[in-house]
Amino acid sequence: MWVSRALGGVAIAAFFMGAAAQGAERQARAGAEAPPAYTELDVPYVQTPGAVVARMLELADVQASDFVYDLGSGDGRIAIAAVRDRGAKGAFGVEIDPRLVDEARANAERAGVSGRVSFEVQDLFTTDFSRASVVTMYLLPDVNLKLRPTLLGMPAGTRVVSHQFDMGDWAPDLHERQGRRNLYLWVVPARLHGKWTLQQGQGDDLTLEFDQRYQRFEGAASGGAARYQIRDGWIRGNEIHFQLYKESGVHHYAGRVEGDAILPLAGWGGEEGWRARRQ
Ligand SMILES: C[S@@+](CC[C@H](N)C(=O)[O-])C[C@H]1O[C@@H](n2cnc3c(N)ncnc32)[C@H](O)[C@@H]1O
Repeated sequence: MWVSRALGGVAIAAFFMGAAAQGAERQARAGAEAPPAYTELDVPYVQTPGAVVARMLELADVQASDFVYDLGSGDGRIAIAAVRDRGAKGAFGVEIDPRLVDEARANAERAGVSGRVSFEVQDLFTTDFSRASVVTMYLLPDVNLKLRPTLLGMPAGTRVVSHQFDMGDWAPDLHERQGRRNLYLWVVPARLHGKWTLQQGQGDDLTLEFDQRYQRFEGAASGGAARYQIRDGWIRGNEIHFQLYKESGVHHYAGRVEGDAILPLAGWGGEEGWRARRQ
């Protein structure tokens, strides 16, 4: 139950108190309605303020080509703003409380975007959000951690924005504070596991082995008797950068992962005339 988990930290306790206040307010608005069944929720209902919604969508750089999923969509504000204010081609809100889904649908109707935004009563843990190019969330630390493997399995370049809570040791690509609020952005990194063959000019091929940890990696390059270190590797979506330490000096590689190939990235001034393919 989330209540016992919530008592673990001051920030989360504050979150709980805010939720209780909002719950009471909603109940008052709804007259005799029963209170929301918070104990059945993985996360209580607390709204993200409008300015924070706007900043979350800005950090994710939501554009017309994006499809946004808000996990635990509440009154629909993030999904609606993605379409109305950022021109996303579509958005989907997953929410377990049916009354909030009704409220979100009415809000989308009022905002004139109901053709491009939909809301469904679903459990976010069983929802397939693989078609999202942007995932937004205002959940809780352990819920984020449970979602992490799924998020890391999404196509490279998918953006994930979280209001308030992080992803444990998956460091964000960007973290900013807005007063007492925290906003986090992750860009799902390409997966480099396995061996790659690096071909360059007339030189001998090298086998690259990467040791990746989220957006960072190091590794080794070998060919014949040669063995070189790969250092300072970083990934942003499909874009990768690393340094190869050879006798001739430090060589910078900037590339783009395209399926089973890595191709040089123009305009970075690093090595040219190379390509790598997955073995
Ligand atoms: C903190 S609120 C965030 C609401 C909205 N995204 C926002 O930022 O304003 C979390 C929402 O997640 C919903 N929720 C909790 N557990 C859920 C679950 N297992 N599946 C789907 N939604 C859930 C709650 O009902 C609540 O509306």
